[in-house]
Amino acid sequence: MTRGFPMSDFEAEDLRKRSLSSDNTLEGMIDAQLSRRGFLVGAGAVAATAAATSMVTFGVPTEAQAATGFTAVAETTADTVTVPPGYSFQTLLPWGDSLFEGDAAWGTGAGEVNAGNMTADEQERRIGFNHDMLALFANPFGAPASANGQSHSAYIAVFNHEYTTGSDMFPGYSATTARRNTVDVELAAHGITVAGIRLEGDTWVHDKGMRVGDTPDGALVARRITGTTRFLVDGPAKDDPRLSGPVAGTLNNCAGGFTPWGTYLSAEENFNQYFANASSLPAGTTKDNYRILGMTNGASQRRWEKYHSRFDLAKMPNEGFKFGWIVEVDPFDPTRRPVKHTAIGRFKHECATVVVQYPEGQTKGKVVLYSGDDERFDYVYKFVTDGTFDSANPRAKGHFSLLSSGTLYAAKLNADGTGEWLPLTHANLESKAAGAFADQADICLRTREAGDVVGATPMDRPEDVEAPHTPGTFAGTGKVFVVCTNNSNRGGSANRPTGTVRSGAADAANPRTNNRTGHIVQITENGNDHTSTTFTWQFYLLAGDPKAASGAVGDVKGTFFGDRFGSPDNITFDNRGLLWIATDGTPNSYPCNDQVLCTEVAGNGKVRVKRFLVGPYGCEICGPLFSPDNTTFFCNIQHPGEDGQPSSFPNGQKRPTMVAVRRTDGGIIGN
Ligand code: FEO
Ligand code: CA
Repeated sequence: MTRGFPMSDFEAEDLRKRSLSSDNTLEGMIDAQLSRRGFLVGAGAVAATAAATSMVTFGVPTEAQAATGFTAVAETTADTVTVPPGYSFQTLLPWGDSLFEGDAAWGTGAGEVNAGNMTADEQERRIGFNHDMLALFANPFGAPASANGQSHSAYIAVFNHEYTTGSDMFPGYSATTARRNTVDVELAAHGITVAGIRLEGDTWVHDKGMRVGDTPDGALVARRITGTTRFLVDGPAKDDPRLSGPVAGTLNNCAGGFTPWGTYLSAEENFNQYFANASSLPAGTTKDNYRILGMTNGASQRRWEKYHSRFDLAKMPNEGFKFGWIVEVDPFDPTRRPVKHTAIGRFKHECATVVVQYPEGQTKGKVVLYSGDDERFDYVYKFVTDGTFDSANPRAKGHFSLLSSGTLYAAKLNADGTGEWLPLTHANLESKAAGAFADQADICLRTREAGDVVGATPMDRPEDVEAPHTPGTFAGTGKVFVVCTNNSNRGGSANRPTGTVRSGAADAANPRTNNRTGHIVQITENGNDHTSTTFTWQFYLLAGDPKAASGAVGDVKGTFFGDRFGSPDNITFDNRGLLWIATDGTPNSYPCNDQVLCTEVAGNGKVRVKRFLVGPYGCEICGPLFSPDNTTFFCNIQHPGEDGQPSSFPNGQKRPTMVAVRRTDGGIIGN
């Protein structure tokens, strides 16, 4: 059975009253927020509504009432993937495996490839390091579901590689003495991997020979995009002199998204770490922008500037502007060059979640993209396209430029539970700070500063932003979930120098000082219209330990029932509309490796949380995703045993890898 036990309403209320700080105003505000919680209506309106209805109970949900039928996993620091009884996991597509038939196997035998003998050319043909966000595209595009217990016969799996850690990759590695070959292998281990996978029986297999359309005459699916691949640039800043010259590679690709026209979006996040010598620049907007983004003043930690002058800002001062974008890749057309979209702004993008807003009864609608800027005290953004997506012709040529033109907004969350999307247009910026931005291109390049000027709300590290939507059409529900992972500086001073006075004080939407465990905010767009410029918001939950004693160091009291956790990062929805959370940082609060938890909104708007999976030691869990029929749960195990922590996952040597979890009877996950 699960950990924990049902509580009476009185106990629950008592816990809730004790749950936050002793500041009655704050407690009252959060209490009011929680009591206004609406039911989540998730993807697939009919199924989700049915699930939500079945969850409505009066009083505190009990185990018997829980819609999720699995037995919760206990906290563990075991160096493996731990799943509930009746479930099993497999690994697939680990770092270093070849993407192409006929290439040498990974291993230490004669003729095999391993970290000790890897070359950049080899790495370019192999799966990259530190898998993050995963998307699955049915192949051929829009393939109808089959009836044999699997949704489709073939998928194109696209996943990105956030960063490399030389000391976890190469024997005897040191950044200061690293040779050129090691640096180039790391560059090639960044970026994005495209690979075919199939479900054969109960096992997912890597199909190296898969072709687009799943026909013999299609192009080979397998493909790598790396830290050196040439990119196109579009949008308002495409001709800005700061982006002149070749744009090579994509770096620090964290979460991302996918579009109804069948493309993969990847978010360039902490790109600052690759650049050196920002202090050498003359005073001015470039130096200010680089400081705001945390570019290194002296030598970079990786020292790549020793071999690649583009990472030395003293030699190539504009190179830092070529990163911090949302990039788009078409897995169905390997000849289409990947693109960096400047219209969506430049910051430490965590994600790029797409929904389509169809006017009543119509099949064409504007595309809305949500993104978070994962830094302490940074902002939540959305982008609304000028053009429309036509669901009757999803692969239409015009769709591939939808993300090049539109309006970018930053979110302001008011204390009364209302909110506004503040336009980052040149006209609006001029009205607030005349002359601060030269033109729209300048706003796209210096987006954080534009958010400062309009007065967006500094959040507790906004990571994933997800909006449940219907498969195929991507029609949203008006609901948007913003995951704030943590902010140890909340209550202190805001940590990035902007020239703008910024308060680090707790506020309505970020109510906990020293927010170690994070929280999830639920936004409801006005009229459930994703293009609206106003919204209401409330907490979905504050992470932590629902059973923690009051007044613990910081405030780690969770406002939910069930299993404790910290640092929610990436979330996903199953086909019943239930929200699942992957964590990055639980071990900083509790003696448990990072984990995946299922949440459900039960009676009285209370959220119940059940631990579904715990990852191996020293990892974070990324890219949570369900197969469309909900019989497989996928996630990526990033950096098992990071920074020398003891791990031998998955097979003796620590290798980032994808994991697929299925029920041993092949049934629906979580039922
Ligand atoms: Fe790359 Fe914000 O996680
Ligand atoms: Ca993340």
